[in-house]
Amino acid sequence: MESQLSITVLAVLFLLRSGGINYGLRPALALAPCNFPAIFNFGDSNSDTGGLSAVYGQAAAPAGETYFGHPAGRYTDGRVIIDFIAHSLGLPFLSAYLDAVGSNFTHGANFATAGSTVRPQNTTIQQSGFSPISLNVQYNEFYQFRRRSQTTRAKGGVFEKLMPKEEDFSRALYTFDIGQNDLTAGYFLNMSTSEVRAYIPDVLIQFATIVKNIYHEGGRYFWIHNTGPVGCLPYVMERIPILTSQVDRAGCASPFNKVARDFNRGLKHVVDRLRRQLPLAAITYVDVYYVKYALISRPKRYGFTEPLRACCGHGGKYNYDKNFGCGSTIKRGGKDVLVGKSCEDPSKHVNWDGVHFTEAANKQIFDHIVGGLLSDNKNSLTMACHRA
Ligand SMILES: *[C@@H]1O[C@H](CO)[C@@H](O)[C@H](O)[C@H]1NC(C)=O
Ligand SMILES: *[C@@H]1O[C@H](CO)[C@@H](O)[C@H](O)[C@H]1NC(C)=O
Ligand SMILES: *[C@@H]1O[C@H](CO)[C@@H](O)[C@H](O)[C@H]1NC(C)=O
Repeated sequence: MESQLSITVLAVLFLLRSGGINYGLRPALALAPCNFPAIFNFGDSNSDTGGLSAVYGQAAAPAGETYFGHPAGRYTDGRVIIDFIAHSLGLPFLSAYLDAVGSNFTHGANFATAGSTVRPQNTTIQQSGFSPISLNVQYNEFYQFRRRSQTTRAKGGVFEKLMPKEEDFSRALYTFDIGQNDLTAGYFLNMSTSEVRAYIPDVLIQFATIVKNIYHEGGRYFWIHNTGPVGCLPYVMERIPILTSQVDRAGCASPFNKVARDFNRGLKHVVDRLRRQLPLAAITYVDVYYVKYALISRPKRYGFTEPLRACCGHGGKYNYDKNFGCGSTIKRGGKDVLVGKSCEDPSKHVNWDGVHFTEAANKQIFDHIVGGLLSDNKNSLTMACHRA
């Protein structure tokens, strides 16, 4: 209720600020909504709808309990932001490209997998937990999908009802939420903050290359999330020691958040440059960092308690222990107990499992970004096909 109100207030402020001067004169107002027929998503666990689960096993219960009633390939209790995006555009939830069973790609495909990075990692998933499906691999998948979906569709019958139309590739929305794992990867290899910062340009160059490749394959409309405040997540705070002087008022680890903001500043520059390089592209940069940090630093305002504690977890300051993660079992009094049983009301929590946001938090993040208030060009989701 209160957050709805604050969105409204912000929206009014925005209209007043821009409206009074030139908003009413901008032809943008007269433009039609986009009617995206499909979404192609690239990313990590923040937007995985079943990719990693298809290959490495389901995200374990109680994942999925709030919305699906069973594990559903998402690393949260319910829906992720891309689910809210798809729904609001009138499209079905995205099938994971890697999911060989029951998938329907008529309105797009999801190439994201949990643990994905922009840069290919030199460690295996067993060693580091990072997915081998880095952004370049996701692009290879897309490249194949673009072609093979059409030869398959041409067979007619049921195939026509499972694959997107050729023309939809240039009318689709291409969404991105990736980068967080590139930052943590260095820290988990014991790199210092300055060492992590030093490789950010390489991450951004590789990101830009993929956007350009998609453009050359006909993609035109891009919706790019920046990265969140990783220094507020238990799995980072538990694993990487910092000084108490480096903890901010919200209880988050400042050095990691600062690196995330450095990454975001670089990403914004990349987006500005891509706008000049790709004349037919409409690119929207979305500041999800801002809203994620707002939920964590002012939880009461948004209906949350204990924003730094995992809902589904076990032990320690943050109810998080990487050896006993959400959905694993621990022995208690000789009995096996499911980690997560104690998580009674996920809707009151920002953090689901020490790493990911709850469905309730994802919904609020979506509510804050859908109208364009956190878009650098003020594009709302439905207007994201227009060059602002
Ligand atoms: C992996 O190793 C290659 C070859 O040494 C190097 O160029 C690349 O930057 C490394 N990737 C990462 C993520 O460290
Ligand atoms: C795939 O989804 C679309 C849209 O929801 C639907 O029209 C189509 O019939 C589905 N395909 C199959 C084979 O069920
Ligand atoms: C990082 O440092 C910790 C603590 O010294 C050590 O246990 C761990 O093996 C190191 N990790 C790597 C990848 O070097």
